Amino acid sequence: MDSTTTSLPEPDESGREHSARVVASLRSEIARSGGWISFAQYMQHVLYAPALGYYVAGARKFGDAGDFVTAPETTPLFARALATQVAAILEATAAREIVEFGAGSGALAAELLNALAASGAEPSRYAILDVSPGLRERQRATISECAGDRIDQVEWLDALPATFDGAVVMNEVLDAIPPHLIARRSGEWFERGVACADTLEWEDRPLADAHLQALAAQRFPPTGDYLSEINPAAEALVEDIGRRMSAGALLIIDYGFPQAEFYHTQRSEGTLMGHYRHRSHADPFLWPGLSDLTAHVDFTAIALAGERAGLHVAGYAPQAPFLLGCGILERLLEVGDPASVAYLREG
Ligand SMILES: C[S@@+](CC[C@H](N)C(=O)[O-])C[C@H]1O[C@@H](n2cnc3c(N)ncnc32)[C@H](O)[C@@H]1O
Repeated sequence: MDSTTTSLPEPDESGREHSARVVASLRSEIARSGGWISFAQYMQHVLYAPALGYYVAGARKFGDAGDFVTAPETTPLFARALATQVAAILEATAAREIVEFGAGSGALAAELLNALAASGAEPSRYAILDVSPGLRERQRATISECAGDRIDQVEWLDALPATFDGAVVMNEVLDAIPPHLIARRSGEWFERGVACADTLEWEDRPLADAHLQALAAQRFPPTGDYLSEINPAAEALVEDIGRRMSAGALLIIDYGFPQAEFYHTQRSEGTLMGHYRHRSHADPFLWPGLSDLTAHVDFTAIALAGERAGLHVAGYAPQAPFLLGCGILERLLEVGDPASVAYLREG
């Protein structure tokens, strides 16, 4: 266990019981798979296994009472600023649709709908697609509470629409898609996975997938021992969206790097990390099912995936200048007196 995890708060009894159920189901999956699963399968299980996974079972997750806070949860100003960019995209498309992936608590959807309506730039519909069906009720409740008049514009999808025309928005979604962990040791290739004797533990096996090996060989520094993530599922999602988008733009907001930084020689152990009760930690086996897991995004791979589907990169920017360009300071001024409680809360 990493030293930062020793000071983490213990879950309560129901949390411990839930995590024990997740571990039991992992043990069965590992046994069924011949004693080993890839890290991608492990992360898929601990985050998304039906009724058990972190994003699927009932834990609070987002916001102050959860494990992490994302920008839309921090302040409505994020969505109000983003609305400027989304309005410009809607303006340039005929059908004026919005599709939000991984809408979390629904905070971004609610504030975007409010801000777009306030500026006369309403979408024709706001569709939400989240791999965690259990979050739908939470999203519906947030939108009803914060943007009640607009709840009828919102629909929940079970699958990607065949085509769409408008703005696709995803905030901190690609980092939640399970990557493969690939290692090169003394010139040999391995996939890092999870085995289970008494406890869950890492086990590296010779890499069997030629496609993953080709991607790693292309992206990793040319020499030296190295371990990092390769995320074909995130790339496939972006490619799939690109193929179905007839007009519009995909707004991907996330943490990550272009390839030269992502696979820098000094980042020789990858970017994987966990979040538990507002602490980040480096132990993916900490309280499975109660702790979030995430890896940074390789933005070069994502851009190339989009290009394969006919998209092109219209912009790439750190979040601060992007939000300033979208007028976040002007939105802040609209909140009112800088000495007011509203200003302190929203700013
Ligand atoms: C870190 S949370 C971010 C939630 C929200 N966007 C926010 O900013 O607060 C990741 C979200 O992405 C969803 N998700 C993960 N993979 C997805 C996929 N392939 N398609 C749609 N949603 C996905 C998860 O269920 C979860 O709601």
